[in-house]
Amino acid sequence: MIHALSFELNAQVARTSDPTGAMHAREVVLARFNDFCGDLVTPDSKESSFLGVTEGVLLAEEAHERGYETESWVLDEGLAPHERDWLGQESCLRMIAYFKDADSARSAMSWLLREYITPFPPQVNAEEEQDWNATWKASFTGIEVDERLKVLPPWSEEWIAACDSGKTKGIIAINPGAGFGTGTHETTQLCLKILVGLGDLTGKTVLDFGSGSGILGIAAALQGARVYCVEVDPLANENARENAALNGVTDRVSFSETIPEELKKGGADVLLANILRPILIRFSGEIKRCLSPNAELVLSGLIESDLDQVIDAYQAGGRPFTITQDGKNEWRSLWLRRREG
Ligand SMILES: C[S@@+](CC[C@H](N)C(=O)[O-])C[C@H]1O[C@@H](n2cnc3c(N)ncnc32)[C@H](O)[C@@H]1O
Repeated sequence: MIHALSFELNAQVARTSDPTGAMHAREVVLARFNDFCGDLVTPDSKESSFLGVTEGVLLAEEAHERGYETESWVLDEGLAPHERDWLGQESCLRMIAYFKDADSARSAMSWLLREYITPFPPQVNAEEEQDWNATWKASFTGIEVDERLKVLPPWSEEWIAACDSGKTKGIIAINPGAGFGTGTHETTQLCLKILVGLGDLTGKTVLDFGSGSGILGIAAALQGARVYCVEVDPLANENARENAALNGVTDRVSFSETIPEELKKGGADVLLANILRPILIRFSGEIKRCLSPNAELVLSGLIESDLDQVIDAYQAGGRPFTITQDGKNEWRSLWLRRREG
């Protein structure tokens, strides 16, 4: 069993015993809480009992619903420091601290009650220990994007059999890791469908801007293209490199954190960007400068209310694009071309 202490913290937290009424910022409370919990040990082995705190993991979709601008897909106070400001605006965040033994969880709860006034009383619950990795792996069996393309995890029997028989055509293997993009998200699927429709890309240069797991770039490389994956998150880039190797396309895909100079003057024949609206708009000038005269530009990661702003940003200046819209559930993609059809 594992012992979970759930509690909530406002951005400013009142102290139980401060006559001046001064509050502690949530970060300060968490730092003090971590210090206290770090010293708790299990009664039997005297090992540290504290396993860590999960804090405010929220999806960007939720951020949009709450009316915040955000540039990241998965917001986690620990993993995405530049999103701290956004989380900081949340009036109340729910946290769960995990401990190996019940006494430690209860000591941590007593400490919280003694030191701070929290919006709701903290609670300790015993939970069955789970191998989250194994549970998640069992649930990710892959996805068929359409009859021409499947995404499979490398542990799937189908992928292993395909490798053994040398029949991996129409399959991309993605080892889920730090990079967004297993193919299960609608925005990725919308891009993949357009990409597959482009057919043989031998001799073409593709820029995958915001490449995450590398899924789009790897798909393009499997269609014969020379690919540049651009991704700000170095951990995602590591994951994408592994995925490129898994699919045998390392020689055709390069990775960087910013757009390479050689693409900036019309170097990309196909440009795929599955990123949220604020980034697509901010980078619209740079993205357009990367396009070769007859390039295909695929923008995804959008919802209906984003479309007008994004279209305006891309149609501003230069030759106008012919635009095809597609969608799945609430998500929308735009396919922009500067030639007829
Ligand atoms: C929605 S994910 C897309 C991942 C993958 N291409 C897919 O379609 O599934 C968007 C990615 O863009 C990255 N990103 C955000 N801002 C960026 C920037 N300014 N330059 C490069 N990558 C960026 C994020 O880190 C994230 O991995």
